[in-house]
Amino acid sequence: MIKRLWAKLGLSSSPTAESLSSENIPVHVAIIMDGNGRWAKKRGLPRMAGHHSGMKTVKRITIAADRLGVKYLTLYAFSTENWKRPKAEVDFLMKLPQQFLDIELDELVSNNVQVRMMGSRDNLPPHTINALEEAISKTANNTGLVLNFALNYGSRMEMLDAIRDLAKDVKDGKLAPGDIDEEAMSERLLSSGLPDPDLLIRTSGELRLSNFMLWQLAYSELWFTDVYWPEFTEKHFYEAIGQYQRRARRYGGL
Ligand code: IPE
Ligand code: IPE
Ligand code: MG
Repeated sequence: MIKRLWAKLGLSSSPTAESLSSENIPVHVAIIMDGNGRWAKKRGLPRMAGHHSGMKTVKRITIAADRLGVKYLTLYAFSTENWKRPKAEVDFLMKLPQQFLDIELDELVSNNVQVRMMGSRDNLPPHTINALEEAISKTANNTGLVLNFALNYGSRMEMLDAIRDLAKDVKDGKLAPGDIDEEAMSERLLSSGLPDPDLLIRTSGELRLSNFMLWQLAYSELWFTDVYWPEFTEKHFYEAIGQYQRRARRYGGL
């Protein structure tokens, strides 16, 4: 009964990849991976266990996105505000890229995935940067899914840097103030070369952007779930994309 009702509403109780229209897959999906700490707490585990488990979700969702034909997957892994956390947690989080890539890099290479990083390299420990740089260079010529890690990323910092760069070009006479347009701004952001996200997903029930891609998300579809990141599965991902496919994107038009 419920299943039929769901079907009538165009919903499926357990969405599958096959239930999605292959014609309207979002090109760029961005995810605020949130709730690792609460997931761990719920189980009586230390927060670090949640971060560790969250890495498995990264793998799971990367594979699912790739199979669906998503072209860009941006994952918010560490914000410029996350430095406020206790040093032990920050240190642990900074080890995760290396841990993840030690295990997964070969598979990413063979699956034609291109790794990118979006964020400031300042203050990142060498082992974090080195692991990422290795992944970026080893996958630079890959042409499949672009897996973009937002690490030490903050949207306001990113926009201020872009504005400083614009101001400098104006001062140097390379750019007229009247020529500052959306393109001039976009190409100075860390996401330069990537299309704006079509779909933003945030897990863990928080309904905010937490300084993530404020410029780029202007017309993105937003999808929130209460599910914590470590328990986020393909099924939830398909559910988000199914929702996305049922929405009308008007961009202010009719
Ligand atoms: C997301 O999980 C991971 C990062 C922000 C690095 P949290 O660590 O924010 O987990 P909660 O939100 O405290 O549950
Ligand atoms: C956003 O999550 C940052 C990442 C997922 C990396 P937070 O847990 O840091 O966000 P707030 O503090 O709840 O807004
Ligand atoms: Mg959080």
